[in-house]
Amino acid sequence: MSMMKSLPLLLILFAAARAATPPYSCSAADPQIQHLPFCNRTLPTLSRARDLVSRLTLDEKIAQLVNTADAVPRLGVPAFQWWSEALHGVAGAGKGIHFNRGRIKAATSFPQVILSAASFDAYLWYRIGQQWRFNGYITSDCDAVAIIYESHKYTKTPEDAAADVLKAGMDIDCGLYLKKHTKSAVQQKKLATSDIDRALRNLFAVRMRLGLFNGDPRNLPFGKIGPTEVCSQEHQNLALEAARHGIVLLKNDAKLLPLPKSNAISLAVIGPQANADNATTLQGNYYGPPCKSATPLQALKSYVKNIKYQTGCNDVACGYLDAGPALSLAKEVDYVVLVMGLDQGQEAESRDRYSLLLPGNQQKLIISVADIAKKPVVLVLLSGGPVDITFAKNHPKIGGILWAGYPGEAGGTAIAEIIFGDHNPGSLLLTGHHVFSDEILLLAADTSISQTLATYTNQ
Ligand SMILES: *[C@@H]1O[C@H](CO)[C@@H](O)[C@H](O)[C@H]1NC(C)=O
Ligand SMILES: *[C@@H]1O[C@H](CO)[C@@H](O)[C@H](O)[C@H]1NC(C)=O
Repeated sequence: MSMMKSLPLLLILFAAARAATPPYSCSAADPQIQHLPFCNRTLPTLSRARDLVSRLTLDEKIAQLVNTADAVPRLGVPAFQWWSEALHGVAGAGKGIHFNRGRIKAATSFPQVILSAASFDAYLWYRIGQQWRFNGYITSDCDAVAIIYESHKYTKTPEDAAADVLKAGMDIDCGLYLKKHTKSAVQQKKLATSDIDRALRNLFAVRMRLGLFNGDPRNLPFGKIGPTEVCSQEHQNLALEAARHGIVLLKNDAKLLPLPKSNAISLAVIGPQANADNATTLQGNYYGPPCKSATPLQALKSYVKNIKYQTGCNDVACGYLDAGPALSLAKEVDYVVLVMGLDQGQEAESRDRYSLLLPGNQQKLIISVADIAKKPVVLVLLSGGPVDITFAKNHPKIGGILWAGYPGEAGGTAIAEIIFGDHNPGSLLLTGHHVFSDEILLLAADTSISQTLATYTNQ
């Protein structure tokens, strides 16, 4: 066969092989590259990263400083997508993670940091993400480098922003700004190539530690991680343990909690968060689809047979109060659990609250239910940011208050376990949820500068 005839066939075979092959560097099929020091697995990672960086041109280097890093075909280095988010475990946001495109449809949803931190249990944290020993790279928030110049006007030029962040130790820009402005920053002598090299050594060292420069990953330990590792029982048990250990008991007057484990009791569950159709009310911003999730109502049903539910509000924002059926129910049962608070409709990126009070008519609903109930009621609050619940702290008919943060997929189960005494809550609040006596207004900072930072004024 002549070259001309065999070439198309080769290209087709190559394309077919590529579709099944994960992208990796240092392939045995390319001996010239494979024998370069950056592919030598016996050398220390930093020496390998240093070698690879030393072989790149300035343009090739700059294309590595952003989340969508280009391939370097002449060195057999594939493109790489750095962007993923993980506030509950792996999240669906970002370009590097896709659920539902293959066999992975969900992942374990752990509690958000605000809750797991309340456990004050460093070993729990270590197991969740080994955060305490993080030894990787420093990234900007997405578009944050651009914001330094364009919105904050901290620098006089885009090049100064690029130079400042790299000199300050940032390694990668989630965005495009460094791709656009780093070269002119070097040409204008605002930035030395050595500042870029420092960042790139950190970045390539991480890719090397992931095993992506050791040849075909399918023959290596990390290449054997399959779909069965996702949503494993071990991970889901840890999510439940973390939720149990984060939930905080804020009030327990007259030892109302735990409620008696008895089939003789009747229980009303009230509130828009008690049984939302999906798991998202147990999750804050930047979440992924959970492996499996029980709502607080579903979980409470495993403790009590005689259990009834009313939402009380039309939704979490509670603009419309539907108190009638909730009040009739509260009047006739032995115990009442209210599940209230915030969700992503109230607090999320670019969604600031302007008040610390519970949204809409929630407070009104809680007080009317407490007033009419036979015994003091239990109030469960889901929220990330602080909520002023002075009214509940002081109300004699609100006997128990639990704060559950955003507890993730096992949050409903953990809440039910604590209410019925199968777990004894021992965590401490990180933020002031009931310290304010008057409504405090949150004045959003200039939204052209920040959509997520609000400041308190207390006059
Ligand atoms: C890899 O590095 C080790 C240590 O420097 C050296 O002995 C070995 O020859 C290198 N291997 C290759 C294939 O170059
Ligand atoms: C989950 O439920 C809430 C409220 O019922 C709704 O606003 C939201 O869109 C739902 N999310 C998903 C992913 O179904």
